[in-house]
Amino acid sequence: MPMALTHRLLDWYAGHARALPWRRAPGEPLPTDADWPYRVWLSEIMLQQTTVEAVRPYFAAFTQRWPSVATLAAAEDAEVMHAWAGLGYYARARNLLACARTVATDHGGQFPATEAALRTLPGIGAYSAAAIAAFAFGQRAIVIDGNVERVITRLADIHTPLPAARLEIAATLETLTPDGLAAADFAQALMDLARSICTPRAPKCLVCPLRPECSATDPETLPVKPAKRAR
Ligand code: ADE
Ligand code: SF4
Repeated sequence: MPMALTHRLLDWYAGHARALPWRRAPGEPLPTDADWPYRVWLSEIMLQQTTVEAVRPYFAAFTQRWPSVATLAAAEDAEVMHAWAGLGYYARARNLLACARTVATDHGGQFPATEAALRTLPGIGAYSAAAIAAFAFGQRAIVIDGNVERVITRLADIHTPLPAARLEIAATLETLTPDGLAAADFAQALMDLARSICTPRAPKCLVCPLRPECSATDPETLPVKPAKRAR
């Protein structure tokens, strides 16, 4: 059920989307090449704990060396671990290989297209399953990462501390997320807005396209961090 805010954000994204090698241009149809879900998946795993700029060269090297999930599934473990060196969090690289091999053996070399099926694969949690369902397959999915949490707690002026705030964040996103492929643009627009405008410190509210709809009175204080454990 898209709202005025949804349209404002999509309009902004149409003119300001970052061009990324794993991303459709806004409003474009879903790519039909067989390796598109592979590229989306690979980027999402790499982006789990690493910045966009750090991921770029690794994404280019991996997709050149292993252009499909089948080629990655057949790779030597040591070669993949070596190519991953520098990205850190090596459990991600081990899960990457396990996932590629599961897709090759149990799914006929095609990534499954639903969030629920994606969740069963190694290394794919709630966030990645939603992101891949939306970005690779054009499904309406609610994509929530730390950046999205920041923008939404500010837009809706949610003062509940994390992680409890996630229920309200998800409910807000449920009302704002458009249907179909626009959900992917909406999610990536939130990520771009979070990184360029609705930043953790000194958000640029004066130039924010969502300012007319934003409820935040003191945005820098949001989201409220989890309370420290008493001891
Ligand atoms: N972070 C995680 N996924 C992303 C994407 N598709 N675009 C930009 N940043 C991201
Ligand atoms: Fe974030 Fe400010 Fe925009 Fe609200 S107006 S979404 S706090 S940048």
